[in-house]
Amino acid sequence: MKPSTQDWIDHFRWNGSVAMRIPWHIGPDLTDADRAAIAHSIQIFQLGENSEGRHLMRYAKEWAARTGDTAYPEAIRMLIGEEQRHANVLGRFMEMNNIARLKHGSSDRIFWQARNFLGNLEISISVLVTAEIVAKVYYPALRDATASIVLREICEQIQREEIAHVEFQTQQLARIRRDRPAYAIWATRLLHRLLFYPTLIIVAMSHRKAIRRASLSPHQFFIQCRREFLSDLPAMTAATLEIKRVVERPNPQPLPSREG
Ligand SMILES: [Fe+2]
Ligand SMILES: [Fe+2]
Repeated sequence: MKPSTQDWIDHFRWNGSVAMRIPWHIGPDLTDADRAAIAHSIQIFQLGENSEGRHLMRYAKEWAARTGDTAYPEAIRMLIGEEQRHANVLGRFMEMNNIARLKHGSSDRIFWQARNFLGNLEISISVLVTAEIVAKVYYPALRDATASIVLREICEQIQREEIAHVEFQTQQLARIRRDRPAYAIWATRLLHRLLFYPTLIIVAMSHRKAIRRASLSPHQFFIQCRREFLSDLPAMTAATLEIKRVVERPNPQPLPSREG
């Protein structure tokens, strides 16, 4: 059965109680070679994760008032909280390993900025989920790009959360689009493709140094992201309101140590 908004709140609450058990006690464990390959990339993603989500919050409240889905703003608040936690954890790792935080945006911030200009819940979520689909591939690549135990753990945990975020967002998009006629659904999917592919090319090229460190070519990264996108796209529309799976709840694992 499809998770309700309240199910998602329960999920975020449970996840907040077990997530992000990072082995900080290991200390700075990033090699110079790894730092040279990934520093700029991680700076961009750390900046991107860091959003107050004010616009999204406003749209969520409007949705709740319009539809009676009064739990939705709380679910969005918790989602934004997880994103901020991603930013904080990445930021702490960067500080520990002498990587400066970026203050200003770059072309990569197109994900996070575009949704604020375009002004409604559907577009806002569509842009956000686009970034999250890429994140599902990026964080495993970043993990494979480094031997840092701390960073590898961070990447695995963020990836797990982004998988859940994509499910949450695609379900909401399907709700928003529920009564849309077939031709409009077709146009919606076309527009999303037009957003996704150029953005993906920019990301694959501008992060190629880190991606290559993970033994992936920008083209392979593109192919993996496209595969994720095409498997998530049907769930974003009313035709597939039955959701493919409920988010798994893995048991918390013991923290890794330097000795293994
Ligand atoms: Fe995130
Ligand atoms: Fe996310």
